[in-house]
Amino acid sequence: MQRFTGRVALVTGAATGIGFGIARRLGSEGAKVFVVDVDEAGGRRAVETLEAEGITARLAVADVGDEEGVAAAVEELMATWGRIDVLVNNAGIVGPTAPLWELSCDDLDRVYRTNLRGVFVCCRYVIPHMLAQEYGRIVNIASIAGKEGNPRVVPYSTTKAGVIGLTKALGKELAETEVRVNCITPAVVRTAILDQTDEAMVEYMISRIPMKRTGQVEEIAALVAWVASEECSFSTGAVFDVSGGRATY
Ligand SMILES: NC(=O)c1ccc[n+]([C@@H]2O[C@H](COP(=O)([O-])OP(=O)(O)OC[C@H]3O[C@@H](n4cnc5c(N)ncnc54)[C@H](O)[C@@H]3O)[C@@H](O)[C@H]2O)c1
Repeated sequence: MQRFTGRVALVTGAATGIGFGIARRLGSEGAKVFVVDVDEAGGRRAVETLEAEGITARLAVADVGDEEGVAAAVEELMATWGRIDVLVNNAGIVGPTAPLWELSCDDLDRVYRTNLRGVFVCCRYVIPHMLAQEYGRIVNIASIAGKEGNPRVVPYSTTKAGVIGLTKALGKELAETEVRVNCITPAVVRTAILDQTDEAMVEYMISRIPMKRTGQVEEIAALVAWVASEECSFSTGAVFDVSGGRATY
């Protein structure tokens, strides 16, 4: 399948993990991929790997919560490739794993800055270009934690619920345009993000999954590729589940 020939995709947090898997999948189907990540060394490695696989890729080092950095990255992308068809808001952090009453307000603010403000900021700077070119697909990576709430990760669960709310509202705002906005809600996938939590937490999350296993990066990327494609034409503001049966709503 070559669903993204001639298309340009910006994927945040694509230096590693799910974001890298998404960049690779979109790129393997013909997209030019713009990697936006705070991790410069990881971002360079990701772009080198993508290029070695024949994918056209570039890196912009930016924190998605930083308005100026995101604005500059989007400007650079437009100056380079002149259009932006797909935005995947994937960058995210778990933050501390502890009961709410042991967390500081700074802990909450830090998780909010990447997980929710980051999605808002990227949408803020990309949507005007999508409206001007009369085409766009935005895919937000939320989490099962935003639907169900995982204990001991209140900032994470809260901000991911926020991403779902943002997706629903923004989808409706843009429903009469050619820009679609949807989100996906993965259950646990083994990536570096799990280094931010403890094994007991991971075991808890797996025990809640009827398939009794973690998801694979490629399984997440496959769903994102469809939601990011032209084929996803009659869905907007929707929440697509990819949780091994944990959520059936
Ligand atoms: N892995 C899971 O179990 C799981 C489950 C559900 C949802 N998710 C979501 O999927 C997304 C990707 O997760 P992952 O497991 O691949 O994580 P990861 O930690 O492996 O990778 C995250 C990437 O985002 C980058 N990043 C972090 N903060 C950033 C910022 N402020 N600006 C720009 N880049 C930033 C990191 O440098 C890294 O490259 C996250 O939004 C996460 O919440 C993950």
